[in-house]
This record gives sequence, C-alpha cells and structure tokens, in this order.
Amino acid sequence: MTAGAPLEESSAVSSHSQSVKRPAAPDIAARKGKTPIVCLTAYTAPMAEILDAHCDLLLVGDSVGMVVHGLPNTVGVTLEMMILHGQAVMRGSTRAMVVVDMPFGSYEGAAELAYENAARLMKETGAQAVKVEAGGAIARNIDYLVQRGIPVMGHVGLRPQAVLTDGGFKAKGKGEGERQRILDEARATAEAGAFAVVVEGVAEGLAREITEAIAVPTIGIGASAGCDGQILVTDDMLGLFDWTPKFVRRYADLRGEITKAVGRYADDVRARRFPGPAEIYFAKAG
Ligand code: KIV
Repeated sequence: MTAGAPLEESSAVSSHSQSVKRPAAPDIAARKGKTPIVCLTAYTAPMAEILDAHCDLLLVGDSVGMVVHGLPNTVGVTLEMMILHGQAVMRGSTRAMVVVDMPFGSYEGAAELAYENAARLMKETGAQAVKVEAGGAIARNIDYLVQRGIPVMGHVGLRPQAVLTDGGFKAKGKGEGERQRILDEARATAEAGAFAVVVEGVAEGLAREITEAIAVPTIGIGASAGCDGQILVTDDMLGLFDWTPKFVRRYADLRGEITKAVGRYADDVRARRFPGPAEIYFAKAG
C-alpha cells in the first residue's frame, strides 16, 4: 500500500480480498495442540497490513483505548470505537482471522443486548468473531451468542475490564481460591462454545493446567509457554512505550527510532535543509 493512498485503491487489498480465505473459528479451534497460533493486536489499517502475513489472528483489542486513545484503562472504550478500528483492520488485512473485542458494558447484562451489540460489531466490521472477558455469569451469554451464529473467543485470568473491581493489572491465580476460580471460568467458557480462550497474566503452571483442561486452544499473554498460542500488544513488542509489563519481549525499539527520526526532521526544518530539490515540484519548462 502506498502511504496516503485510499485503501480501496490499494492493489494489495483489492486483488487478495476476493481470493484469500481467512481462517474461521473452527479452523482456529482445530489447531488445539498443534503448531502454536500466532496472534497480535491491531488497531489501524497500515499496521494490520504489515502484521497480516505473519499472524493467524489479529485482535482488535479494547486495549486500543489505552494504546491509541490515551485512556487510563479499557472501561471507557465504546462500541463505536471498536467498530471504527475493526473496519480499519479488516481493510488493511486479507489473510488473518480478525477478532474484535466487545467493550465493557456491551455484553455482560441481558443476553439479547449482548447479541444485538455482537451482531452490530460483526455486520459493521466484517470481522470473523468477537471476544469477551469471561468471568462469573458470562458463560450464559457466550452460549446465547454462539447458538445464534456469533463465534466467541473468551478471556480469563487478568481481565482488564475488571480492573476497578479486581484491583489493578496484577498477575492472577497465585492463591488456591483464585486459581480454582480461573480454572472453572476457563472450563465454563469453553463448554459454553467459545472457540478459543485468551489466558492473561496468570501464575506459571495455571496456563498449562487450563490448556490441558479445555478442548479449545488457549492463547497466552503473560501466561507462560504452556498455551496453544501467544498474543502480545503489538505496540508493546515493538517498543513504543517506555514501560512494558515483565512478560513482554521487545522485538524493536520503535520509540527510540521515532525519537531519532523526528529529531532529525526538526533539525532539518529549522536549518532549512528540508524540503530540498528532490522534495519540491517544479513548473514545466515553456
Ligand atoms: O485488548 C487487548 O489487547 C487484549 C489482549 C491483551 C489479549 O485483550
């Protein structure tokens, strides 16, 4: 894709979108115990285009609220934000399965409302599935959605949407009571029909136990290598933030690279070295 070109005119997008089949929920479910499933978050079309060739699944996570919009947590993320970012990621990708997070407040209450919101996310983005944080009574709504044709991915362990009740972004399942509760929630999520379950921020060993206990793939984030796949927040692994959680491996230092590049640009503008002859338009001779 050429920077600045409308996506509709991008040959990469239009020529592939008809011919390449994205994996669907049953394809991901069938990967249980096989080659690890590669997942990353994506929020924009250009980033989705870069990640697409490498990933089985792109998650339009509600972490977009913190990563892109500067919110303190994911509680303020709206359905409209998820739809806009979901549409962008669908336009930028052609190969990977795209899953969109259902934001806080859009699926925990009446099953009918959860269905209405999930159906809207699916119809308006074209994504292949939705994800919900699956504590307590949510299994009932997962079952309701799946029975009505909406593929659902679950999310247990550290649940960012529950940060205000659970008390911060801390690893979960260190004590026996909490360990058992998370295991039960993962089981209930899978039995309700989720095609995969994200396991976030749990004590080493619990992820493996969950992976052995449920019939669908587990996707770990801060949950050890004992999962069927892994996911990271892309901006974390690319080194766009000064601070990242312990479980993130930084594969690049984009913050450093961007800082250097912007510094060079600012120096060039101030010294009138930019734009130069190669970067300006000339009138036609005659
Ligand atoms: O919102 C998100 O990015 C997520 C991942 C961290 C799994 O839920």
